[in-house]
Amino acid sequence: MKNIAFLAVSAALVLAATPNILAADGKAVYADNCTKCHGDDGKGQTKMGQKLEARDYSDAKVQDSFTDAEALKSIKDGMKKADKTLMKPSELAEDDIKASIAFLRTLKK
Ligand code: HEC
Repeated sequence: MKNIAFLAVSAALVLAATPNILAADGKAVYADNCTKCHGDDGKGQTKMGQKLEARDYSDAKVQDSFTDAEALKSIKDGMKKADKTLMKPSELAEDDIKASIAFLRTLKK
């Protein structure tokens, strides 16, 4: 009986921890691949971000200007303005890109 109770508690703990693991992933993916341009706070006030005119993702209006699906496509396929490359096509796995978008969404103020 003790073992069954132990298993049930363990399973509950694993389930409870899962969303946190996903959130941490998105943050880590973002930190490794996106802060260079978009900044830790999503405001794009880095050297690269300013040069490429990254928008301010703490601004709700900017966040509302694209859907998650559009963001995924922009990151996966890359983004260009005229001849200028804004974002290169990403080599990240789709799940990692989705996690980083989910993290970016949390930067909205
Ligand atoms: C080389 C610099 C650079 C890197 C690295 C970069 N971005 Fe971007 N990103 C830009 C620029 C520039 C734009 C276009 C201006 C804007 O929308 O901020 C952009 C646009 C976007 C958009 C808007 C897409 C749309 O359809 O309007 C999202 C979302 C985004 N980036 C997320 C990310 C995420 C998440 C990462 C990391 C996986 C990332 N970017 C990495 C420079 C970069």
